[in-house]
Amino acid sequence: MNLFNVYPLFNINPVKAQGSFLWDDKGEKYLDFYGGHAVISIGHNHPYYQNKLKDQLEKISFYSNSVQNNLQSELAEKLGGISGYENYNLFLCNSGAEANENALKLASFHNGKSKVLYFSGSFHGRTSAAVSVTDNPKIVAPVNFSERFIKSGWNNIEQLEEVFEIHGNEISSVIIEGIQGVGGIMIPTAGFLSRIKELCEKYNAALILDEVQSGYGRSGYFFAHQEFGIEPDMITTAKGMGNGFPIGGVLIHPKFEASNGLLGTTFGGNHLACAAAIAVLDVMKNENLIENAQHRGKYIEDEIKDLPHIRSVRRKGLMIGIELDRDCSEVRKNLLYNHRIFTGNSNDKNVLRILPALNIKKEETDLFINALKTVLEKI
Ligand SMILES: Cc1ncc(COP(=O)(O)O)c(C=O)c1O
Repeated sequence: MNLFNVYPLFNINPVKAQGSFLWDDKGEKYLDFYGGHAVISIGHNHPYYQNKLKDQLEKISFYSNSVQNNLQSELAEKLGGISGYENYNLFLCNSGAEANENALKLASFHNGKSKVLYFSGSFHGRTSAAVSVTDNPKIVAPVNFSERFIKSGWNNIEQLEEVFEIHGNEISSVIIEGIQGVGGIMIPTAGFLSRIKELCEKYNAALILDEVQSGYGRSGYFFAHQEFGIEPDMITTAKGMGNGFPIGGVLIHPKFEASNGLLGTTFGGNHLACAAAIAVLDVMKNENLIENAQHRGKYIEDEIKDLPHIRSVRRKGLMIGIELDRDCSEVRKNLLYNHRIFTGNSNDKNVLRILPALNIKKEETDLFINALKTVLEKI
């Protein structure tokens, strides 16, 4: 059997990883400045994380959601504490798309409405409703297309108000990323977010903050929207939550009532996934990784912003978009094959996306800065 060929692959086969480095099957060492799409939050194979998972494997790795699982409560308590959302409830699932799918569904159960407002440049995942609110017609199949999903312009308050004026009473939820990642590191303005919040309150629509990529300390805040002091109705999370072990979650305002069978999943919140997610939160707290994201991110920006061919650097914490004056694909390939550094791209072909682990060290950032300098100066 062959693999279903949907991914354009680099010809590199990583077989080992530690901290911010990877090694391929030929023994070549690579610096990971992308964390496998923002997944690696505490570094590869962190010893505390490894031990937590090993210990858990020795005990029990899975049983269904029909029995007590104290690890889920421990995770919810720790997540509530570190994020400041102690009074919210947690629904656990397996991925970012699934978290958004459940949030959209819960909003609709709650207010009985069916339209959803999303924004240009968005990416919310590839499952049914999540892909319908993703601004990429190439990945929206006819079965997922519906006029119930309404798109409005990013940071465009005027258009937002118009949409609410026309559809407000039918809008069940508004879904927005804390910072758009796939869209090219696009940061919402404080005014845009607070107007969305006001309109959601006025029209009884749920505000869903997708923090799948921008959450878990990446932005220098636990969740990116917390910089702006707004309180969403639901917050979705995944990626950095398990540092590679699949887990996602929805943080849910207490006004949403749970009932038996309303939401559910076979694998979500299993013992191993919870052990991984607890280890991530422990390491983030013990090693002050949110502060590290702020400092290291600022250092990188200061060192690169005046390099040739850079038009702008869009950044919060360690979520960094480097906008070049050209398509970034050659620069990216050069960094990978000549300097052995992984970086990412985005739907904006000029934007190089940088998402290193939150415990990246200064000397590791210098490896990237010097390599980027060499590549850009040679163009
Ligand atoms: C903001 C955002 N939401 C949702 C998703 C989907 O997450 P997953 O691939 O875990 O389903 C992604 C993935 O890139 C994302 O960046």
